[in-house]
Amino acid sequence: MGIPEPSSSARAVVTGASSGIGAALATELARRGHSLILVARRGEILQTTATRLSDEFGIDAEVRATDLSDPVATASLCDELSTREISILCNNAGIATFGALAELDPEYERAQVRLNTVAVHDLTLAVLPQMVGRGSGGILMVGSAAGNMPIPHNATYAASKAFVNSFSESLRGEVSGQGVFVTLLAPGPVRTHTPSPEEASTVDRVVPDFLWNSSEYVATLSLDALQRNKMRVVPGLLSKAMSVAGGYTPRKFTAPIVGTFYRKFGD
Ligand SMILES: NC(=O)c1ccc[n+]([C@@H]2O[C@H](COP(=O)([O-])OP(=O)(O)OC[C@H]3O[C@@H](n4cnc5c(N)ncnc54)[C@H](OP(=O)(O)O)[C@@H]3O)[C@@H](O)[C@H]2O)c1
Repeated sequence: MGIPEPSSSARAVVTGASSGIGAALATELARRGHSLILVARRGEILQTTATRLSDEFGIDAEVRATDLSDPVATASLCDELSTREISILCNNAGIATFGALAELDPEYERAQVRLNTVAVHDLTLAVLPQMVGRGSGGILMVGSAAGNMPIPHNATYAASKAFVNSFSESLRGEVSGQGVFVTLLAPGPVRTHTPSPEEASTVDRVVPDFLWNSSEYVATLSLDALQRNKMRVVPGLLSKAMSVAGGYTPRKFTAPIVGTFYRKFGD
């Protein structure tokens, strides 16, 4: 059955809904009539978004201000979600670091693993049984083109997204016959806001404008793909090139080449 029609009792959950791709996913889901549970740490921003989407689209939007790198807070959210009617889960929240692992803050690296992988796993485990039981539901996993290959100077992030990419495509193979759709979004660079010259990162400066996709475009493409139970969404030229390179080039060649670029992103 896949994605059910929106209803007043069901909720679509979006993690990382306070900015970027997550905010765009929340807006697009609301436009399609789905009531929401918005998750991120910054509750005030979520509340403003929830009020705006309720007013504009007439849906219900609830806010759960939760640090998904905190196992206790995540467990509490998962307990609640397992008892609610969840029609869609967008596992979107994630962070990235660039630089030599030995020089990065170990606690932030550990938090990155918990957020990018463990929370994704926990949230999926919380809602999957009810989706399988109903024979309907959709899970959008936000991985990355970075998860297709080894990336020196982006090691924790690339490894965490390799987990998400593989988890999504493996799980899809288990449940698509049971009516539950699972789609992986594996993007390259997505412009979540226009940076000022002072705040522009090396990535912003190095990657030319035409290779960026907008959050809104990526969100619409992803939800259309989930609706059709597509295995993987790879928006844009650079993501497609990274997918091909990751899939077909021997990893001992890709690692040093890609690492040369990513070394600059840590500056
Ligand atoms: N933008 C890109 O170029 C790109 C490319 C490939 C993949 N992706 C993936 O797309 C997803 C969204 O990225 P984005 O670019 O839209 O990022 P973003 O604008 O920085 O948004 C990240 C979201 O995650 C939330 N978040 C961060 N830490 C959290 C925590 N500990 N607990 C709960 N929520 C947390 C943030 O909210 P709070 O700060 O309020 O908690 C925010 O809503 C990520 O998984 C990212 O890896 C992005």
